[in-house]
Amino acid sequence: MSTNLTYYHVASDVPDNNPDIAVVIDVLRATTTISWALFNGADSIQVFSNLDLLKAKAEEWDANKRVMIAERGGKKIDGFDLGNSPLSVTKQMVQGKRLFMSTTNGTKAMQKVQNVENLFSMALTNRKAVADRIISMNKKEILILGSGWEGTYSLEDSLAAGALASYLIENNSKEVNIVNDELNAALALWHFWKEDILGCLKTATHGKRLTNIGNYEDDFKCCSQLDHLNIVPSQIEQGIIRAS
Ligand code: MLT
Repeated sequence: MSTNLTYYHVASDVPDNNPDIAVVIDVLRATTTISWALFNGADSIQVFSNLDLLKAKAEEWDANKRVMIAERGGKKIDGFDLGNSPLSVTKQMVQGKRLFMSTTNGTKAMQKVQNVENLFSMALTNRKAVADRIISMNKKEILILGSGWEGTYSLEDSLAAGALASYLIENNSKEVNIVNDELNAALALWHFWKEDILGCLKTATHGKRLTNIGNYEDDFKCCSQLDHLNIVPSQIEQGIIRAS
């Protein structure tokens, strides 16, 4: 059986028919943060698009066992414990805790495909871990969804989609079909930038947005690390992600 890979760079393009696997990408920075939080021992991450709902659900939880994370436009929202930096989800901060998380685009993209049976969150830092899991599952239809920025294209998510496709093509013993032009373009992007991932992230519109609002140098370095964490963040029930 061959594998079909399709990439959408905005959630609104995703068709209604469910694939076997969906992979959501938000390199800058939500899915990088999710990978680091799970690596540092977070019990789970519950994702929200709505901040009031996030607060209501978090309040049902033991205050010592929860962390509330919210970001809009790259900035932390007042009243929440953390913004969306992968550097902030330290072991001390997250170990054994449920994270309640809402970000501008990443958590919304996850909600868009939350009905897919196998849903993974991926960044560059855990590309190999997610790709190896996909290969081991031997499924037919794989959808890759970039989070983009408020309904528009993002360079860094497309880079990571190309990185995932490239790995799957090189390491899968089965035939891998690139279904749409978005993914062919993402693959070309990966081959163009793969020796300068950091440069690509800083060139991206959202990279420039972050540079304009503060010193995000360490975030860029963290988000550009390829295949660094052996973590597969999987949806275990609707909206809840755990390392698996
Ligand atoms: C998002 O969800 O759009 C991002 O993760 C924004 C950010 O850099 O915090």
